[in-house]
Amino acid sequence: MHILFIGDVIGKPGRDVVAEHLASLKDRLKLDFVILNGENAAHGFGLTRAISHEFFAMGIDCISTGNHWADQKEILSFIGDEDRVLRPINYPKGTPGRGANLFQTRGDESILVVNAMGRVFMDALDDPFAGVDAELNACPLGEGADAILIDMHAEATSEKMAMGHFCDGRASAVVGTHQHVPTADAQILPNGTAYQSDAGACADYDSVIGMEKFNPIQRFVTKLSPGRFTPATGPATLCAIFIETNARGLASRIEPVRVGGRLKETIPEI
Ligand SMILES: [Fe+2]
Ligand SMILES: [Fe+2]
Repeated sequence: MHILFIGDVIGKPGRDVVAEHLASLKDRLKLDFVILNGENAAHGFGLTRAISHEFFAMGIDCISTGNHWADQKEILSFIGDEDRVLRPINYPKGTPGRGANLFQTRGDESILVVNAMGRVFMDALDDPFAGVDAELNACPLGEGADAILIDMHAEATSEKMAMGHFCDGRASAVVGTHQHVPTADAQILPNGTAYQSDAGACADYDSVIGMEKFNPIQRFVTKLSPGRFTPATGPATLCAIFIETNARGLASRIEPVRVGGRLKETIPEI
């Protein structure tokens, strides 16, 4: 199975770069399933119904999120009925939406996508390891699903790396999001799970993690917030991770993908 995981999309520049390149990437990488983290898609903060439909129309199969999932209150009116949109699994019981879902791919195989959120330097939530463990036990790789992908949305690379090893051999891939910068540690862990600490963002990289530079710099320099953060509006780089799985559902390949904007382009050869 060929899976593409696209990192946090920051506002319109991020949406535009995905719209510009997704069709050719699908073709070139022979993609069976595409996941995108949409927590910053609505002007940097949250996700609306219209934007999620925009992504589905482009060919996105599943939208994961993170700590910004409910920044647009509108999501509370549709996430209950939209099983292609996930929020982190370790929110308190009774939170609208779901943190995992089983999908059928274009090749008629099944893929379980799980969205979890870290707790180091982030809001206090339920245990993400227990939440992911329960999903992996309920739907084991090769029995309940042909592939399993986990989006570990976290600030600390230590917590993400721990999640990678915690799932090693039980998931096809554990990919990190939230940091908005792609890491150079793509690898297949000893028991066959593909791992990268952060997918990076789809954003203008002449920015502070996707936002116009001035306000974030002023906040660091003066410790006062000079105003709202808004997405930087220059050409964005699409940052993603390509994963290929074998007959057992484990990873045979993981490659970073970068297209457009300021970062050096890389597209794997298939
Ligand atoms: Fe984000
Ligand atoms: Fe985040």
